[in-house]
Amino acid sequence: MKRILSGIKPTGHPHIGNYFGMMRPAIEWQDRGEAFYFIADYHALTTVFDPVKLREYVCGVALDFMACGLDPAKAVLFRQSDVPAHTELAWLLTCQAPMPMLENAHAYKDHLAKEKTPSHGVFAYPVLMAADILIYDSDIVPVGKDQKQHVEITRDLASKMNALYGPIFKMPEPSIIQSVETIPGLDGQKMSKSYDNTIELFPEEKALRKKIMGIVTDSTPVEAPKDPGTSSIVALYRLFASEGDVQTMEADFRAGGVGYGDFKKRLFGAIWDYFAPMRTRRAELAADPQYVDRVLADGAERAAATAGPVMERVRRAVGLRS
Ligand code: TRP
Repeated sequence: MKRILSGIKPTGHPHIGNYFGMMRPAIEWQDRGEAFYFIADYHALTTVFDPVKLREYVCGVALDFMACGLDPAKAVLFRQSDVPAHTELAWLLTCQAPMPMLENAHAYKDHLAKEKTPSHGVFAYPVLMAADILIYDSDIVPVGKDQKQHVEITRDLASKMNALYGPIFKMPEPSIIQSVETIPGLDGQKMSKSYDNTIELFPEEKALRKKIMGIVTDSTPVEAPKDPGTSSIVALYRLFASEGDVQTMEADFRAGGVGYGDFKKRLFGAIWDYFAPMRTRRAELAADPQYVDRVLADGAERAAATAGPVMERVRRAVGLRS
């Protein structure tokens, strides 16, 4: 049976990009193997410095994930920091991680490009992620395109360690690149928290409506035909609406006579309806915080039981234990 592993960083409330890029594929994988999914709170510490917010985001991610269909009876859901072996293994990998490889990593380069001083945590981020993956002898790592480089770094580090110490790590398969096209945000750029253009999964109705109505469009007049191929409204609508409804919208774009405001209302309706059952489930889960705590505690126990023997194997191989 294949072991599947993925993580999600609690740096805010999950948005539609997270949903299609990671959460939904992860939920699909839970029926196809032994799945371990964690909330990457150690990773979040590279950017979230407010402890109250961090706790809120961790709890929110757990609720959102379960509301969307993660079944704790099928997949192990846990908090990264509940299994401290992640950071222990990260140190051992750090000692073999070539500086030039890390200097080439996206997150670090982005920091430099924005003229921010990167912390050592930002620099070492890919090493911690490699530890997350290798400590579970993972086979498959479902991640979005933006994480592909990190999985490649993981494979490089695993080969390097294996060449040096013998076959201690299982080689994870390259990341599963999602077939979903890049999801546009409110401004038409890729949806990302760092661009502040996201649509969260469970906002209040009014807030969601306001966001959707704020999607940036060009100034084509109502009467004029419009290009559905370049519109982020259509791109988003495709994710939520039926084939027939998408075709109708595309035809209305081409025909002219319908304004962007109307299309945005249709998009709002489609998103609101899509998440309706999950919203109900989320409210039920949120009413029982002890249940969520129990899921995470139980997940941590199961994750630690899997990570423990791998960590012991690595400690021995490098000479920390005999
Ligand atoms: N870096 C990932 C992200 O930002 C989150 C993550 C941390 C992760 N560790 C992981 C994903 C291990 C897959 C496997 O989305």
